[in-house]
Amino acid sequence: MITKPNHLSSTPNLPLAGTTALITGAGRGIGRAIAIGLAQAGCNVSCVSRTLSEVEDVARMINSTGLPQGKSFLCDVADPVAISALAAEIRRWIDRPVHIVVNNADIARLDAVEHTSDMAHWNRIMATNLAGPVAITSIFLPEMILSGGGVIISIGSWNAVETVPFMNAYSVSKTGLLRFHEILEYELRGKNVNNFYVVPANTEASII
Ligand SMILES: NC(=O)c1ccc[n+]([C@@H]2O[C@H](COP(=O)([O-])OP(=O)(O)OC[C@H]3O[C@@H](n4cnc5c(N)ncnc54)[C@H](OP(=O)(O)O)[C@@H]3O)[C@@H](O)[C@H]2O)c1
Repeated sequence: MITKPNHLSSTPNLPLAGTTALITGAGRGIGRAIAIGLAQAGCNVSCVSRTLSEVEDVARMINSTGLPQGKSFLCDVADPVAISALAAEIRRWIDRPVHIVVNNADIARLDAVEHTSDMAHWNRIMATNLAGPVAITSIFLPEMILSGGGVIISIGSWNAVETVPFMNAYSVSKTGLLRFHEILEYELRGKNVNNFYVVPANTEASII
């Protein structure tokens, strides 16, 4: 059973009325669409990215349409200390467990091993695309389980299973994330937490 927050807006006839979600990378692209979609389904959404103006814009849009509430949060998911601070900020806002976590934030970078002399970029992609979702999941999962269940979603990529040259670090990070979800599936048995690795079709993307 999902506990419903009592001090946030709730539209009882919507399917996710009264629930709360956290979406990383909610400032633009697919994350923005997910945040708005969840709000349209009745969910109160925490919109997270490193560009405050973008997540503020999404939260403002959600709040201006009479949908359940949106709130913007600044956080670099590659930084575990920032993730702990984010969890505390969200708790201050909703004072209830997050029911739905969407690990969407990523860096997509063209690269080739031959030119990877500087490991800083490689490590940054792993920290954002792989360690970030793991840290976010581990910090929100215990409360989710204690509250009766929830959903963990990571936005993956076909690069996890198909060989795409010149996106080496990105592909390795998405493969690691897929394995994380496959193993999580076993660990979550009987805990009423649904666990998804979702692969979207190609859209306009920021590849650096
Ligand atoms: N678009 C596609 O065609 C496609 C295809 C397959 C899979 N995917 C996957 O779908 C997801 C979304 O892709 P997209 O194309 O919509 O991405 P996008 O347009 O590049 O947006 C990425 C979002 O993540 C945020 N972000 C990046 N690094 C972050 C960090 N360290 N901490 C917090 N937020 C961070 C960005 O904001 P800031 O930079 O301001 O933080 C932005 O809001 C990704 O996981 C991607 O791998 C996309």
